[in-house]
Amino acid sequence: MEKKLKVGVIGATGMIGQHYLRLLSNHPWFEVAYLAASPSSAGKKYSDAVAGRWHMREAIPEKFRNIVVEDAGNVAKAAGKCSLVFSAVEMDKQAILSLEAEYASNGFAVVSNNSAHRGSEDVPVLIPEINPEHLDVIPEQQKKRGWSKGFIVVKPNCSIQSYMLPIYALIKAGYPIEKMVVATLQALSGAGYPGPSAIDLVDNTLPYIGGEEEKSEIEPRKILGKLKNGKFVPDESIRISAHCNRVPVTDGHTACCSIQFAGKKPEMSEVIGIWKNFTALPQELKLPFAPIPPIIYREEDNRPQPQKDRDTGNGMAVTVGRLRKCNVFDYRFIGLHHNTVRGAAGGSILTAELLKAKGLLG
Ligand SMILES: NC(=O)c1ccc[n+]([C@@H]2O[C@H](COP(=O)([O-])OP(=O)(O)OC[C@H]3O[C@@H](n4cnc5c(N)ncnc54)[C@H](OP(=O)(O)O)[C@@H]3O)[C@@H](O)[C@H]2O)c1
Repeated sequence: MEKKLKVGVIGATGMIGQHYLRLLSNHPWFEVAYLAASPSSAGKKYSDAVAGRWHMREAIPEKFRNIVVEDAGNVAKAAGKCSLVFSAVEMDKQAILSLEAEYASNGFAVVSNNSAHRGSEDVPVLIPEINPEHLDVIPEQQKKRGWSKGFIVVKPNCSIQSYMLPIYALIKAGYPIEKMVVATLQALSGAGYPGPSAIDLVDNTLPYIGGEEEKSEIEPRKILGKLKNGKFVPDESIRISAHCNRVPVTDGHTACCSIQFAGKKPEMSEVIGIWKNFTALPQELKLPFAPIPPIIYREEDNRPQPQKDRDTGNGMAVTVGRLRKCNVFDYRFIGLHHNTVRGAAGGSILTAELLKAKGLLG
């Protein structure tokens, strides 16, 4: 049996860090060998560092309990322990840019949940089913930044994943989309722990999530864009208008979408067929976290629902429903995904699997 690749988690004590450990505890290719967080957790056994703030339903995996948490800023401590780090630190943007660059310059592959590098012109924002070819930027990134072995790849904002696979499937089938209006209903876990106060959320919804609408409108264009001369050129042909709302749901982001095609529109039955038959590189490569199928279409009028559909495909599939004609654009539909799995730790793990399958992890 092939030896597992040693990986680390920086921000391991946080909400997303805990999801990484839960999802990686029995991973067939990766073994977690390095945990790091802020100086206040450094030096403690993992179980002590998260005492009173372990948020997962499952107990702390036994194998991680006694690992001593390192200070994420002391990159030398990771040397020899792992070759890839998953990054899920909560720090200001400049500090994250420097920290992730320091890991990459020291030879580590960095797969990040953080938004800091999403705007960097040489850093791919990856959804493995959509833009795996964006990984071709890695040699350019290394050359430009003087990194011999390390590099940075990021995952997009969790708000967009409920609609990116469905719209990409249509674009790939030859039906480009000209414009789209989307209203998201985003789960509490997307705000991290403890998130908004209970008094603001019981019997309520919040119509503003700082920065989220801009990310929902800009990131899809980069993901659908092309790599030219070592830089990403965004796809300006699609226009998105987003309304992002926080709702009292624990996990699972919903997106209510209206789309207009650039040219001829497919019949509704064809749209459903395209979604049901959609498959991509992660499925062809049989990556361990690749959901098969990646898009599920539910015929019932009352689906998708966060409670019932977020765990489909082990939290990695996107569930779509309620395709119908739109009175303003061509069609409308509802998409749903698990924001802390597909939209965060699970999505990054799938990216790391793709990196390994493409031979980019040495
Ligand atoms: N929650 C989501 O659904 C979601 C989804 C996608 C992306 N993200 C992004 O993922 C990142 C983590 O989110 P989260 O919800 O897991 O946050 P969180 O629960 O607040 O955890 C933050 C982590 O960062 C560490 N940290 C804080 N200051 C640090 C420092 N100076 N040096 C090193 N480590 C430091 C913390 O360590 P200590 O425990 O030692 O303080 C902790 O491990 C954020 O950038 C967030 O925007 C979150």
